[in-house]
Amino acid sequence: MNVEVFLSCAQVQEEDVRERTVVVIDVLRACSTIVTALHHGARAILPVRDMAQAGKIASNLDPDVYRLGGERDGKKIDGYHLGNSPLEYTKDAVEGRDVILNTTNGTKALSRSRAAEHLVAGTFLNADRVVDFIDDTDRPLTIVCAGWHNRISLEDTVCAGLLLDRVWDGGRPDSVSDAAHTALTQYQHHRDDVTEMLRHCNHAQRLIEMGCEDDVDYCLRLDQLSVLPYYRDNRLVRYDGVAASDSKAKKETSS
Ligand code: MLT
Repeated sequence: MNVEVFLSCAQVQEEDVRERTVVVIDVLRACSTIVTALHHGARAILPVRDMAQAGKIASNLDPDVYRLGGERDGKKIDGYHLGNSPLEYTKDAVEGRDVILNTTNGTKALSRSRAAEHLVAGTFLNADRVVDFIDDTDRPLTIVCAGWHNRISLEDTVCAGLLLDRVWDGGRPDSVSDAAHTALTQYQHHRDDVTEMLRHCNHAQRLIEMGCEDDVDYCLRLDQLSVLPYYRDNRLVRYDGVAASDSKAKKETSS
């Protein structure tokens, strides 16, 4: 399988994602929030680039059916219903509702990747489910780590490495890109103390200093939720198995 990894989303162009399965990773915290909200019954997550886009979408929706969520500098945006802590996205808060989500890096990474054939959100929480999907679609794969302000963040890199370790069954193909190699070796080097090591990475420390230690502990849990957020029609919905089998069927008929 052809695999490419972007360690931050800054350089991702449309041609890097077109006709590929793309996994966007933002462990702390946007993708973990998305997975959790869908797990708790949110109808859809609408990831947006900025305040203006969020406001425009909200103005066209019935106020009873949506929630505005997101952060700047990790803090809830004034006037929004919710911040970006996955722990806020309870059943009570989101069940049956659309969430317009506006975050610093994660929703931008999703937005940059929207031309993908299949676009999903990956985290430690749903890693197993993501790997099943990658295996199932059997398409060229691009992993886009959201990173932090166009820089690498260790938690996203290590999560990318974990996915690759599972996709490649603990081995490594003869030829891999340097970015894929970096992600894989970071994960393999720390595999026995991933959680403890990542509690010390830059963004975990920022969140802990802001009093969000519970978010960090939650987001670093592995294989907790079998939800796969899948992007279609400008929103992430809970994947129902249709898109991957459609694509398999397409390939089988064309071969
Ligand atoms: C982001 O999109 O940059 C994040 O999810 C930041 C955060 O809220 O921790």
